[in-house]
Amino acid sequence: MADAQIATQAPRIIRREDYRAPDWQVPEIALDFDLDPAATRVRARLTVTRRGAHDRPLVLDGDGLTALRVLVDGAEAQGWSMDGSNLVVPLSGDAHVVETEVEIAPERNTQLEGLYASGGILCTQCEAEGFRRITFFPDRPDVLTRYRVKMTADKARFPVLLANGDPVAQGEIQGGRHWAEWHDPFPKPCYLFALVAGDLVANSGSFRTMSGRDVQLGIWVRQPDLAKTDHALAALKLSMAWDEKVYGREYDLDVFNIVAVDDFNFGAMENKGLNVFNSRYILADPDTATDYDYDAIAAVVAHEYFHNWSGNRITCRDWFQLSLKEGFTVFRDQGFSADQGSAAVKRIEDVRGLRASQFPEDAGPLAHPVRPDEYIEISNFYTATIYNKGAEVIRMMHTILGPTKFREATDLYFERFDGTAATCEDFVQCMEEAGGVDFDQFRRWYTQAGTPRVTANLAMDGDKARLTLSQTVPPTPGQPVKEPMVLPLKLKLFGAQTGRAMSDEQLVLLKDPHTEIFFENLTEKPVLSINRGFSAPVVVETDRTAADLAFLSAHDDDPFARYEAMQQLMLDTLVSSVTTGSTDHDAVVEAVRNTLTDAALDPAFVAEAVLLPSDSFIGDQLAVVDPEAIFRAREALRRALGTVLHDQWRTAYESSIANRFEYSPAAKGARRIRSVALGYIAASGAADAQELAFDQFSKADNMTDRQGGLTTLASGDSPLREQALEAFYARYRGNGLVLDKWFQTQALSSRDDTPEMVERLAGHRDFTLANPNRARALIGAFSVNQRAFHQPSGRGYRFMADQLIALDKLNPQTAAKLLPPLGRWKRFDATRAAQMRAELERIVATPGLSKDMFEQASKSLD
Ligand code: TRP
Ligand code: ZN
Repeated sequence: MADAQIATQAPRIIRREDYRAPDWQVPEIALDFDLDPAATRVRARLTVTRRGAHDRPLVLDGDGLTALRVLVDGAEAQGWSMDGSNLVVPLSGDAHVVETEVEIAPERNTQLEGLYASGGILCTQCEAEGFRRITFFPDRPDVLTRYRVKMTADKARFPVLLANGDPVAQGEIQGGRHWAEWHDPFPKPCYLFALVAGDLVANSGSFRTMSGRDVQLGIWVRQPDLAKTDHALAALKLSMAWDEKVYGREYDLDVFNIVAVDDFNFGAMENKGLNVFNSRYILADPDTATDYDYDAIAAVVAHEYFHNWSGNRITCRDWFQLSLKEGFTVFRDQGFSADQGSAAVKRIEDVRGLRASQFPEDAGPLAHPVRPDEYIEISNFYTATIYNKGAEVIRMMHTILGPTKFREATDLYFERFDGTAATCEDFVQCMEEAGGVDFDQFRRWYTQAGTPRVTANLAMDGDKARLTLSQTVPPTPGQPVKEPMVLPLKLKLFGAQTGRAMSDEQLVLLKDPHTEIFFENLTEKPVLSINRGFSAPVVVETDRTAADLAFLSAHDDDPFARYEAMQQLMLDTLVSSVTTGSTDHDAVVEAVRNTLTDAALDPAFVAEAVLLPSDSFIGDQLAVVDPEAIFRAREALRRALGTVLHDQWRTAYESSIANRFEYSPAAKGARRIRSVALGYIAASGAADAQELAFDQFSKADNMTDRQGGLTTLASGDSPLREQALEAFYARYRGNGLVLDKWFQTQALSSRDDTPEMVERLAGHRDFTLANPNRARALIGAFSVNQRAFHQPSGRGYRFMADQLIALDKLNPQTAAKLLPPLGRWKRFDATRAAQMRAELERIVATPGLSKDMFEQASKSLD
């Protein structure tokens, strides 16, 4: 009995090779919403046309819907039926009008997919498959439809009614209700549908496009938040101008609206003409948002805006092509951010992010190609691989083609596929055609999972040198054997004595498993600088000595390569501490001293360069992760750096004390180096370090400095710690986004009692799983605090599984995205692995588990 139940419940696997064009198209839809949080009526009128010669019925996806009425060409439909949750309507002709009516309850929608309520605002989230929770429809991205949307609602509670496209009419009706109608002239897939109803105000602006049209811009929020929207509005205008200048892309509607809501499963959503945002990526003022928040807001505003072309005008044929829009759009938003400040620092941050989230994914049980072959729940595939590795794949094509041909290729792509649902293959073909290149082998970046590993050895022979390059791609689930990739490696040689460049930078396309490259007429011993600018998203192993790396960290002329050399030096030192117990910190200390005292360097760059690799990244280098040993080794190196360079940190700290808050690259750089210096002063154990942190915390006129102080205090054990946490809480208890920081800072603490503290915080009156930001702030942060999460008792795992099981009942999407750290048991010792597996098994055995969670947990057990 139990077995039979499991067998019938096993979720269906969707395969890329099964793609078939739709049987029916829907050129037009008219939607009529009678909005009410408890009971919203949705009437849909679809014009449907048969595609090709077949006699299959119209199948409309539904999720939790009951058809109250089904009409065909104005009359009661004959012979319709339900196939599971889908509506099946037999149709005799090639074109019909099909009408349905359903009732939904947005206030009871805790999944935050479909139509839901957030803080009194009614809003929608349809990507990937949320539209089927609103009305019956062929919910697939290759069905493109023109939308007319009418909304009727109580005027006092919902004075503002927004939808995609342009407003065309509005009016009042008796009983205090009103209505509005919006038309979107651009055919779109249903995942881009959106409506919002609420008591909102706008920060309005306008933008004149390159062809001279004026676009009305609105950032819609609740009244008290209006003063925090200037930065987002400014970023929107910058994004619009940037896309015209860099990609020749102009905005196409007369209005562009953004709405911020507090409950949101992701960062934001690119719905045509009506972006809906997680409020954390809109709201900012110096008192509540860090520099990191300001930068992230600009990046996400740009990302969603850029989707108007890379995503909306050209969408995806099917969800296996997700990286077509996401990888490309991330690449575009990275370019935008690089142009706003230091491109080098931006690249360093992006690579650090890739290594923190995508490399572990590629090395674990959930590894998948940039274009996956199968999925159970598509929501689980909005991953670092699709987004960030996908962006690296686009970047490599940019590197190989060069900027001019790359732009010709994107022009060709936008021109050829405008108004269609395209594939990754379509994009690559445009690159090949415009670039005059053959990407046959390069396409493996879309099909093979796993992070390639390159080894590079440089051998001298008289005045010649031989560089031997080899590559391998590790096996991943379902892909035991790999073919060699195309790896664009930028490299350069520097003279070890003079520091002079001995060659121009060259781009080597490594295609074979092994290659040799020769250098001649060398006048001194060379040092190899390789994968400059992180030209390929790979792991590089070299035979460079600590002295070589220290040399490059001081002399390389590519700032990324300088950063990278320093990181490698730190990593080599830490790995040898963990594996051999060595405590030789001298090379790192001297390299950091050089960087710290090099007045020619940008402080923002220095702050990145002197930061030690994270516990998890150190763990990723080891055969078996030993969280305690890693923590001890890293703390010892931090203490050595803090102590030996004590005077330099003090100087860096004091010389970067800012005057009044200013959001500029220079001021941000000063705040960044200041917090890093404070961290090292505390690591040195200096008697006054906690007072210094508390002083910074108390006197700060901005959140970056305040949180920097709090972060240092939160990992310490001075009585000032409690005092600061209490003061912070008292000051911000009414501000959800800042309370998230309060929870997160404690979950990331390096104190021994963090696991207990996190458990206590889960019972705090301000903690709730119902808000995704809050859940991520505590549980998500805790799960990446390597030593705390992997505490030997296993209590971290148990706590995590309890929370995930509870969250899955409310919000499966958000729960499933928090699972991966628990799934990486293969990287740990047998005791921890067994504890982690036991929790995964407990999750899989939970009755009523969502398919989101089932997919993540069951794949992690394999
Ligand atoms: N397309 C959105 C973006 O990249 C992602 C997104 C928004 C999303 N909401 C979602 C993905 C909900 C999965 C589920 O900007
Ligand atoms: Zn996106």
